[in-house]
Amino acid sequence: MKIEKLVRKNIQSLNPYTSARDIYEGDNGILLDANENSWGSTFTEIPGLRLNRYPDPHQKDLRKLVGDYYSINEANLFFGVGSDEIIDLLIRIFCEPAKDKVIIPEPTYGMYKVACDINNVETINVLLDNQFQIDLNSIKKNYDETVKMIFLCSPNNPTGNLLNKKDIITLCEEYDSIIVVDEAYIDFAERGTIINEIKNYHNFVVLRTFSKAWGLAGIRLGFCAAPEEIINILFKVKAPYNINTLTRYALQSAVKNSHQKDVYINGIIKERERLKNQLESLYGIEKVFDSDANFLLIKCRNAKDIQKTLADKGIIIRDRSSQPKLENCLRISVGTEEENDLLWEAIKKIV
Ligand SMILES: Cc1ncc(COP(=O)(O)O)c(C=O)c1O
Repeated sequence: MKIEKLVRKNIQSLNPYTSARDIYEGDNGILLDANENSWGSTFTEIPGLRLNRYPDPHQKDLRKLVGDYYSINEANLFFGVGSDEIIDLLIRIFCEPAKDKVIIPEPTYGMYKVACDINNVETINVLLDNQFQIDLNSIKKNYDETVKMIFLCSPNNPTGNLLNKKDIITLCEEYDSIIVVDEAYIDFAERGTIINEIKNYHNFVVLRTFSKAWGLAGIRLGFCAAPEEIINILFKVKAPYNINTLTRYALQSAVKNSHQKDVYINGIIKERERLKNQLESLYGIEKVFDSDANFLLIKCRNAKDIQKTLADKGIIIRDRSSQPKLENCLRISVGTEEENDLLWEAIKKIV
């Protein structure tokens, strides 16, 4: 199967936006091509940051930096305004509105469906099995040639579990569709990423974000690793200057400080297990699910009441009860030691 066959016809024939700067290699040119402000910028707090200029549309610095950090070939990397932007772009590339379909095994992260709905792309909501693993039979039953993509999340939000690698590979091998695995929470998992499998499957995309372990939700930066053919189409359809200069600067600085990310991961995992043990001791909590992420899913008797009572005390957690198989389930992000202590003191009095 050729990837091109899966791409929407209008995208195949698209002439992407071009920049006059593409024909110029150096750093010191007289830039009179983009109607910027050559005089300077009103933001002067970070000297040397040329905010009066548009950022690099080819994402060269970011691809080199992150490629080196994660040992991924630069040609296999694409950056988005959060991984949410990449989810949307993938749908727009591969799915013809009102015609093609996407399979989303649920319960899972809600943005896959919202992004499909925005693009008028029908979703087939098959269920994960009782261990929240991929139900290959159910996918087979619901699959037809209009299914262009399958979205998977590992570790899954909000259930917290990793998906079986074998099942993901089976999907890559057996289906003529794009298989997307969202690894937003992979840094908190014991087992490693399956990002290297992009070398083996031409239809495989892995999403990552800097919003979780790296503590950079505010800069809005995510990336995907994928075969070059898919990366090239993403570059064709993205807004020319999607990643801004401040975001790039923040990431460059964060990578220099990457040991801090590892400190966060270790601390959050330790706190996750402490909180899990505490919550398991409460009579009113039926189950605390194992988690490979930075949150815990709990099943209780009256999720709505618990959420409301905690909110009244200023502690905000997420009710996930409206999702299939998650009746009376709450999702709690693991906070700092102090935040978790406050949560514990409050919740033990009400469940
Ligand atoms: C599974 C999953 N993917 C992606 C995202 C969004 O990531 P970003 O901040 O990079 O858009 C989230 C946010 O909560 C998430 O839970």
